[in-house]
Amino acid sequence: MRFDVFTIFPGMFTGFLTESILKRAQQAGLIEIAIHNIRDWTTDKHRAVDDTPYGGGPGMVMMAPPIVHAVESVLGQEQNSTPIIIMSPSGELFTQDIARQLACFPRLALICGRYEGIDDRVRIILRARELSIGDYVLTGGELAAAVVIDVVSRLVPGVIDPESLAEESHNSGLLEYPQYTRPPIFRGLGVPEILLSGNHAKIAEWRRMMALCRTAARRPDLLARAALTPRDHELLQRCPPDPFAHQGPVYEGDQLERPEGGEQGASR
Ligand code: ADE
Repeated sequence: MRFDVFTIFPGMFTGFLTESILKRAQQAGLIEIAIHNIRDWTTDKHRAVDDTPYGGGPGMVMMAPPIVHAVESVLGQEQNSTPIIIMSPSGELFTQDIARQLACFPRLALICGRYEGIDDRVRIILRARELSIGDYVLTGGELAAAVVIDVVSRLVPGVIDPESLAEESHNSGLLEYPQYTRPPIFRGLGVPEILLSGNHAKIAEWRRMMALCRTAARRPDLLARAALTPRDHELLQRCPPDPFAHQGPVYEGDQLERPEGGEQGASR
């Protein structure tokens, strides 16, 4: 799978691409990531990529010509068969489902916006899809593009252990159950006894219950959409009381409230 990234800050991608799993995936030829500097497609002596917005207002808008020329010249004949994505806080929310769709293509183009956004004609001319990675505003689309590359790359066959993916799809639509490893006791806390029992059926059921309970507590929106069996509904009745309650200091309005008697919010 090949990713073509269009940015005015190519240096932002180096550390992230040259470490760990993505580094290995590139070395193994499973993924290829090409970073293109949009400024290389400017024609004026200042290499300008932005200008003031028509209609007034604060900030600068990224101009259409350098971006459109960059994408057209890099993608060439493959422009029509390659999903072109603009990273933007106004895009549709990027989800694991969208990642699965994108992972079916051999090539993806990612355009990183900066400033107040990108001239909307880029989206229309390139038939691009706008994606947001969450309801917050980053200083630019580079981190968001890095997130998309990371999530989609994991789905490319051979990049990660297939068992990890199988476990995710097994629990599909739910948050992951909690995990533990050695030491068996740390700061007086043990691990749930069932995990040491060697009873695989019981462990699987406990994990399913914890995934259900965690999702109910943290993401009721996901639980409402998940395909649950009658057994799942029974397991949900057995959730330990509020097992995942946030125990640290709590912000209420602009006031930091400490748990009663807790000198440093130290109930953690
Ligand atoms: N650019 C700025 N904020 C963003 C977001 N949340 N998602 C994608 N691109 C962005």
